[in-house]
Amino acid sequence: MLKKNEEYVVEIIDNGFQGEGIAKIEGITVFIDKAIKGEKIKIKILKVQTNFAYGKIIEILEKSENRISNEDCTTYKRCGGCNLRHIKYEETLNIKKAIVENCLYKALKRNVKVNNVIGMEKPLFYRNKLQYPVGVDKDVKPVMGVYSSRTHDIIPTNECFIQNKECQIIANDIFEFIKENGIKPYNEKTLKGTVRHIVIRIGVTTGEVLVTLVLNDNKFKKDKELVEFLVKKHKNIKSIVKNFNTKNTNVILGDKTEVIYGDGYIYDILGDYKFKISPLSFYQVNPIQTEILYNTAIKYVGAGLDSPQNKIALDLYCGIGTIGIFASKYFKKVYGIEIVKQAIEDAKENARINNINNIEFFAGDVEELLPKIIEKEKIKPDVVFVDPPRKGLDKKTIDVLKELEPSRIIYISCNPATFARDVSLLEEEYDIREVQPVDMFPYTSHVECVAVL
Ligand SMILES: C[S@@+](CC[C@H](N)C(=O)[O-])C[C@H]1O[C@@H](n2cnc3c(N)ncnc32)[C@H](O)[C@@H]1O
Repeated sequence: MLKKNEEYVVEIIDNGFQGEGIAKIEGITVFIDKAIKGEKIKIKILKVQTNFAYGKIIEILEKSENRISNEDCTTYKRCGGCNLRHIKYEETLNIKKAIVENCLYKALKRNVKVNNVIGMEKPLFYRNKLQYPVGVDKDVKPVMGVYSSRTHDIIPTNECFIQNKECQIIANDIFEFIKENGIKPYNEKTLKGTVRHIVIRIGVTTGEVLVTLVLNDNKFKKDKELVEFLVKKHKNIKSIVKNFNTKNTNVILGDKTEVIYGDGYIYDILGDYKFKISPLSFYQVNPIQTEILYNTAIKYVGAGLDSPQNKIALDLYCGIGTIGIFASKYFKKVYGIEIVKQAIEDAKENARINNINNIEFFAGDVEELLPKIIEKEKIKPDVVFVDPPRKGLDKKTIDVLKELEPSRIIYISCNPATFARDVSLLEEEYDIREVQPVDMFPYTSHVECVAVL
């Protein structure tokens, strides 16, 4: 019988969904943070549940050849972000492929082929969006950085190896400004204080920067001083906005935004297209891999579909219209649906600035709006792109897809578990022809997939 605090020597037989090592002791599965398949490790048991337990590394007795040093990152040991950063990059791609395969093999009756994960040549500083909480430490002093793993303690962070470097420098400057001007950070315990988050987005191709200061109240009165200080120092800043979020929630942005400098948005370029991005709109965080992802999705349209130029496509969960716009030249007409109104406004503007006239966008919940639009516009789509949030598709949308019978569905997913669940519900009607994982989030345990059904 496993006991808390007891020590064992184990062989790591696999890596799990979060990249954690997996061992078996007396038939019980033990999850060990930061252990690698093939290693022999002395562990201490931290917690025992009915069928599984958690352990932590005491000593690595036999090291995996895939283990690398990560001493350069000062937050790594506590931050939950890059939980594969102790593993060689190539091997992290193998782990991610196995995660996708495991999800699909468990959910599906038929076997499907999962391609090797497309990785990055330089998997560092890739994020175009920084979002750091601002709060107080245990001495109630201001702190800005990343949350420590599984908690809301903020680890001071002035360098992060996956963030765009310019965004990081701007964040550091804003934090200094906040401290120097005595502006109160938000305190999650008392729900008081002003600054909750610093969000910085950069169009990596255009270089344009959008700064969003997320506030809990209207006590921030230094708009002019902040603008002067930042814009003088950082010529790439195109806009600065205040966003108000007064709810006790983990959601970062509130609904209300006030522009204090510039136009309230930036542009970026992906492939042949220019995109307007507003503070509340979704935009993929790794532009290099996004182009690969979208081009793979477009390639899947061509494969085996006769003259797509005469065909109709749907872009469900379309954000600012990126996939639909990439696809537009291959179709007679494309319809996009997205729940965030500001994103739909961006999408319409994006169609206009790219001279695309065969695309139409609708704001609303896919679950409710899709059946209505299909009926009203008498749409019979040949291809449907879906790119839902992590929770995947809802049952009603899957049923509508089955009724519509598009000749192909191109499913883009950031969560292999819900992706596998959803395609298993379409397995009777569709072949899952190809699954291509793309490493959008290097060194984290997240993996994106694009599949053609
Ligand atoms: C993973 S993002 C994909 C966006 C876009 N396809 C892209 O590549 O940039 C998912 C999008 O779905 C939107 N969304 C979430 N729930 C939705 C719903 N029920 N109906 C419509 N859109 C939704 C989000 O606002 C977000 O823009």
